[in-house]
Amino acid sequence: MGMSVAANHAKGKFAADAIMAAAARCTEDVKKNGADAVINGTIGSIIDENGDLVVLQIVKDTLKQLTPNQIVAYAPIPGFPEYLDAAIDQCFCDSRPEGYIRAIATPGGSGAIHTAVHNYSEPGDEVLTTDWCWGAYRNIIRDDNRVLREFELLTDDGKFNMKSFSENLQDLVNKQHNTVIILNSPANNPTGFGLNLDEWDAVLSFIKSAVEGKDKNIILVSDVAYLDYSGEKQECRRFFKKFGNLPANILPIVAYTCSKGFTLYGQRMGAMIGITSSEDVADEFTAINKYTARATWSNPTSSAMWTMIEITKDPEKVARLDAERAQYFQMIKERADIFMKEAADCGLKILPYLSGFFITIPMIGSDKVCAALEKEHIYLVPLKKGIRLAVCSVSKKKIAGLAAKVKAAVDAAGIVQ
Ligand SMILES: Cc1ncc(COP(=O)(O)O)c(C=O)c1O
Repeated sequence: MGMSVAANHAKGKFAADAIMAAAARCTEDVKKNGADAVINGTIGSIIDENGDLVVLQIVKDTLKQLTPNQIVAYAPIPGFPEYLDAAIDQCFCDSRPEGYIRAIATPGGSGAIHTAVHNYSEPGDEVLTTDWCWGAYRNIIRDDNRVLREFELLTDDGKFNMKSFSENLQDLVNKQHNTVIILNSPANNPTGFGLNLDEWDAVLSFIKSAVEGKDKNIILVSDVAYLDYSGEKQECRRFFKKFGNLPANILPIVAYTCSKGFTLYGQRMGAMIGITSSEDVADEFTAINKYTARATWSNPTSSAMWTMIEITKDPEKVARLDAERAQYFQMIKERADIFMKEAADCGLKILPYLSGFFITIPMIGSDKVCAALEKEHIYLVPLKKGIRLAVCSVSKKKIAGLAAKVKAAVDAAGIVQ
């Protein structure tokens, strides 16, 4: 490295983003050869069957009706109270857990995860998450001078790996005062895996036993970025009920976001929602997270909050919102079903996909396979232990036949999955 004036903790940091890099090569290809010739499976947004970004119609209509004041005026640091109430309601629906529930507006789910890591772990602490996880977790954790610790999400037969989870968690509880866990379920990015209710029971029961009677705390960050496309509205939210009535040294924080559920990605709106049986912990949650909000992004985005408030206060609009989401959930499901069936037919191994924007094809040597596929104008994201396909962004027409092409590239590279 040449000359550097960065502080020690910042020296050498750079975000090598495999997703953005693949997306950039894809854009070049589209310019040269046209969109029809290219398959872009890198994008983490919903793209319709015609190749256009989906903005929910109810969101478009509502955005257009906002007043200049609603768009530009400063919002209160923790967010408009109406927004926070709506976020809590929309997040939990019929499965609101019992206890003190507090929320702070954040710039997307990212802001919620960052703030939870920042305020509930110490510099140098390890933060526990799954080996199959969204790459930005590493940046968030490292940028705050914490260390990422991975446990294995899946067993060999495709179930939640309770053994790996409990061993790693126990180890961290033994050596740290606070342990922050980030669990992205349902619709895990990149696998599409999600915990069932029994698996949630086992996770929470182990968390309880790990800190029972101890002066130790566990903060469970529940990342539900893809919640609204993960199944029937009430059914996919049932696990939230389990976050109620936990001992006061266990704090679930839901990282809620309007990015996907309201297709407001670039508007940067989300919330961190804390659930606790202790009023002190609840008051502290509001105080310290509000403080961090003030110290980082300051005021949350007014326009996005008003869009969300205007929709959710009107039951007729909520019905339209739900219907649109259900339609896109179905579209993504149909794409995933095609890919999974064809993968099974041609012997391409994939990780257990239940719902969500992505399917993962496990392998070592994904770079080589992705490079070969790019020669055929197919753009997927190479990960350390596999390839990520964004079923949210590839049309059914283009998904058809894709599994066989990936399988051929895997075989040609001499890779055994
Ligand atoms: C797993 C996961 N969590 C959280 C997010 C947060 O996104 P945002 O900050 O836009 O809400 C994303 C977005 O890609 C994600 O994939």
